[in-house]
Amino acid sequence: MIDLTKEEQSMLDGEEGEGVRRAMEILLALGKIYDAERFIPVSRAQVAGVSYKNLGDAGLGFLEDWAGKGARVRVPTTLNPAGIDIENWKKLGISEEFAEKQIRVIEAYKRMGIQPSCTCTPYLAGNIPKQGEHVAWSESSAVSYANSVLGARTNREGGPSALAAAITGRTPEYGLHLDENRKANLLVDVGCELKSIADFGALGYIVGKEAGNSIPYFRGMGKADSDSLKSMGAAMAASGAVALYYVEGITPEVKFNSLRSFSAAKLPIGTTTETLTIETLHEGYEALNSNAAEIDLVAIGCPHASLNELKRISRLLDGKKIKSELWITTSRRTMAAADIKKIESSGAKVVADTCMIVAPVEELGFKTMATNAGKAAFYAPSHCGMKVRFGTLEQCINSAIEGRWS
Ligand code: F3S
Repeated sequence: MIDLTKEEQSMLDGEEGEGVRRAMEILLALGKIYDAERFIPVSRAQVAGVSYKNLGDAGLGFLEDWAGKGARVRVPTTLNPAGIDIENWKKLGISEEFAEKQIRVIEAYKRMGIQPSCTCTPYLAGNIPKQGEHVAWSESSAVSYANSVLGARTNREGGPSALAAAITGRTPEYGLHLDENRKANLLVDVGCELKSIADFGALGYIVGKEAGNSIPYFRGMGKADSDSLKSMGAAMAASGAVALYYVEGITPEVKFNSLRSFSAAKLPIGTTTETLTIETLHEGYEALNSNAAEIDLVAIGCPHASLNELKRISRLLDGKKIKSELWITTSRRTMAAADIKKIESSGAKVVADTCMIVAPVEELGFKTMATNAGKAAFYAPSHCGMKVRFGTLEQCINSAIEGRWS
């Protein structure tokens, strides 16, 4: 049973309006399911459930109704990708009808005080929680990054629960907000070399499938930069439900400690720990690849591309012309900071606010896609009905230049 403070009780009684009452009801129901004893404050939120492709008219109506009931966020809150590039949707060939509904979704969120950042990498766009900070994030890849790479604390929220937390400024205390639930229970020994973002995606896919919602503790990974971890975490959260992982020598809580130099008691490791040994990434590449030869769409930037990734792509496309459609999806903020002239002069499109999975790509006639992202390769067949080729960034860029997978 959750103990409510006076303020929380008044929110539940509707004294702060119908929109706040609805938010409290959602959070209270969630707290009851997970046996929370109290609410804790959250300092930020990231709200998913933005693309009209996923929301449909029912979701749009729900959001407009909630905004109309006076719901306003009380902590800094950012938004997940939408189904369109808000400024350039016509250039992508998206229909007026879809765009009009999508813009209404974003307007409803804006009325609630949410920044229309429309990115799954809020941590690259100014929403950066510190280690130990309690937040309410939805978007599984961002949740994984927040918990694991930044050391913040969030459960894997759904869109409505993250929004409810933003409106009330609190969340029930359960799951990954508590120390005892943040202990690793799956040791992963990496016995193969990881040379590309795609390799990290393939590893994430394999581990996610085995892990389900366990908490992996990686050893022997060697070097891993933030772009590699964002790709691995996204794939692990897609093929499984991993919301937190540790990488020995790299992620915050285990940066300077290792199983060799410290006892497990000093590390965030639980008592029941299985071990998974990864000697090859073959299973991941095999599962995420089809036999597609001609490539309609090459899609890079899942999760949304960082500045460094845009620089690399720019170098690879310098002086080249592409035959397939090539989208590089990123946040509008990263796009504004990048020099994208060389990318655009190749014929490629730097696309903000959306991505290859939540945009209505099937309506645009694309049947085959190449990507270097494990998460996009995992979802594109089921969410977009596309055949996928999954490989390195260089392979993807070459396939855009040649129009076929090579
Ligand atoms: Fe982001 Fe879309 Fe991938 S929301 S994590 S780019 S599927």
